[in-house]
Amino acid sequence: GKGEYDHFMLKEIHEQPTSLAQAIEGRIDPEAGRISLEGFDPGTFEGVDSVQLVACGTSYHAALYGSLALNSAGVQATALLANEYSVAAPPVDDDTLVIAVSQSGETADTLSALRRAKRHGADTLTVTNVVGSTAAREADDALFIRAGPEIGVAATKTFSSQAVMLVLLAQRIADDTRGEVPADLESLLPDLARMPEGIDDLLETSEADAVARHYLDSEAFFFIGRGLGFPVALEGALKFKEITYEHAEGFASGELKHGPLALVTPETPVFAIFTGEEDEKTLKNAEEAQTRGAPVIAVCPADHRAVEVADDHLEIPDVDSDLAGLFANVQLQLVSYYAADLLGRPIDKPRNLAKSVTVE
Ligand code: M6R
Repeated sequence: GKGEYDHFMLKEIHEQPTSLAQAIEGRIDPEAGRISLEGFDPGTFEGVDSVQLVACGTSYHAALYGSLALNSAGVQATALLANEYSVAAPPVDDDTLVIAVSQSGETADTLSALRRAKRHGADTLTVTNVVGSTAAREADDALFIRAGPEIGVAATKTFSSQAVMLVLLAQRIADDTRGEVPADLESLLPDLARMPEGIDDLLETSEADAVARHYLDSEAFFFIGRGLGFPVALEGALKFKEITYEHAEGFASGELKHGPLALVTPETPVFAIFTGEEDEKTLKNAEEAQTRGAPVIAVCPADHRAVEVADDHLEIPDVDSDLAGLFANVQLQLVSYYAADLLGRPIDKPRNLAKSVTVE
């Protein structure tokens, strides 16, 4: 049941300290600087020369997050919408690893992309929450995110666990294919070990409900981010539109001036996500929106320069940039939840949507 919570979505947002602890349990050793993923011993990915990640919706945002983590670890990787894959798949061969990212493991579009990849000779792997799902049975290998059941149609805790597992997998793949562990592992693993506690603190102190209330009457809601902040901006907007029924869009920060800025008015708050990846540029982009009258809500650490500039602030801890966006995402999950609740939306079962989309 929902226990003390009004909705499963809020319960599942609050379960993230636990679901993340379960995801990393036994899989990281910060002292030794080691990652051990059961079933994926060192050497498993030798011979892989490129990675394609296929997924839909929120899982696609996690896949995009994973592809960027792979790229920055020096591995060639692309995230693709599974529903586009049948008409727009890049070439694959037996040195390609195709990773199907799916909470349920039952999404028809994702299964069909997985099957296509297999037919074309790729190695396949699924990152999923459901042991015994079709994806887990059909892919050559499966990495389970161990998030526990997610009832709310809006994916929350499964997104953060998918992203974390993909960040770890990226290091494993980089290690196997390039023979070197990327340098940032030393800051990543301790920050990851502390992440459950960090999310717990964020949930305790979040002012997302006040922010949601403050901007509730706006015409549209924009989310911008750069690097790993970009998939988080897309996810923030998807969650917002899905449960509030308000117009929301996510953009790469630098894209704002290439078109979307025409939409920006005092009635369009801009949530700016700062992950420590060229933040000065993102701040400049946010200021361009602010100059057009848009309120800016900075999602960043307390001592960040953006706090001075922004109209509102949602705090995240100062952590490794591989993880910062995932903290920001939890703040944005809360903003969407509280906005939807204030608007009287059903939240756990938004109109027209299903938890698992089993038709193409
Ligand atoms: O089960 P999957 O992860 O394959 O589902 C894919 C999407 O349908 C799903 O992520 C959807 O976008 C979310 N429920 C939205 O919150």
